[in-house]
Amino acid sequence: MTVVLPTPVSLTQVTLTVNGRAVQALVEPRTHLADFLREHLHLTGTHLGCEQGVCGACTVVLDGKPQRSCIAYALDCDGSTVTTIEGFDDDALMEALRTAFSAHHGLQCGFCTPGMLVTARDIVARLGDVPEARIREELSGNLCRCTGYVGIVAAIRAVCAGRLPTKAIAPMRTSTMPVAASQQATLPSTAAAQTPRAAAPSKPPTGIAIADGRPTLTERITLTVSPDAVWAALADLHGVTSCLPGAEITTIDGETVTGRLRVALGPIRAAFAGQGTVTRDEATRSGRLSGRGRDTGSFSSVEGEAHYAVHPAGAGTELEVALSWRLTGSLAQFGRTELVQALARQLLRSFSANLEALIQGRTPAAARPLGVFALLWALIRARLFRR
Ligand code: FES
Ligand code: FES
Repeated sequence: MTVVLPTPVSLTQVTLTVNGRAVQALVEPRTHLADFLREHLHLTGTHLGCEQGVCGACTVVLDGKPQRSCIAYALDCDGSTVTTIEGFDDDALMEALRTAFSAHHGLQCGFCTPGMLVTARDIVARLGDVPEARIREELSGNLCRCTGYVGIVAAIRAVCAGRLPTKAIAPMRTSTMPVAASQQATLPSTAAAQTPRAAAPSKPPTGIAIADGRPTLTERITLTVSPDAVWAALADLHGVTSCLPGAEITTIDGETVTGRLRVALGPIRAAFAGQGTVTRDEATRSGRLSGRGRDTGSFSSVEGEAHYAVHPAGAGTELEVALSWRLTGSLAQFGRTELVQALARQLLRSFSANLEALIQGRTPAAARPLGVFALLWALIRARLFRR
């Protein structure tokens, strides 16, 4: 008789900072952050409701932002900083919220409360004194079966009343896009701030650079349409997505977008599903998209950021884009290869051509994933013309 033994599950080491403490553990690829927190660290204040990213009960702060820990893999969070509800024990703002939740009957069974409090703290810290309607909008990702939300909203209103924001909304620019610092440095705070684009900031070199271990691709693409039209088109996320080969949006919830990006590299086909945050700065006509996605087929994840800025260029527009990314999992070996760099460059160029077509009322090319032949051609062309 043959005895079939179960295939051993591969374990991978993950290192995190949780509530200020460095933590290392071996985890299975499928372990999500909430299970890791609850079962490995016994931090059971993080509750699990739907385990599908819907109810918000599992919300923790991941690298400074609220995140549903049931849809984040522990492996993807390697190197990140996590604060659970237990990590706010000595936090004055959280103490004020806890007191207000009690005073305003903001909880009954308490199941949603840890996630509600983590989200509420972010609302107050990020936005300061906000009207009820905005609080309700911001809380829309946290479900409560008991209270009817009235007490929860009243508690948050009571705490945020008269407060100024204590932390910046997502920074528009980071060190991965050197133009940021140089442009911001040229912006005085008063009258000249009305015409920030009049200054001629120094521009970062185009091409690939490695910063903090991540490739960053900077490109400047000239479009024949006006900066006003480009800026307006970039505000339409569905339109923008239709211009990005292989991309699709599932939901848009304020600044948060969920969707999928399909990529085909010869025999390798990946579909990264995930969530991102989109911010825009009207004054500097620049924006930022950051997000993470996972391909369940290859157990690979991508984490990326795109910064863009719209500049006038003669009668047309110069669209400046800096893309940075980090691949983990089985596809990580391709992360810095020329093929992936060519993919990023080709995505950008296809996107720009499609955006211009969209603005001019033409139909963008079909939004299908880029194939390996297009990439190989891009590589050959880059070598031939040293681009
Ligand atoms: S348990 Fe994570 S969103 Fe519901
Ligand atoms: S207090 Fe029971 S689910 Fe919110």
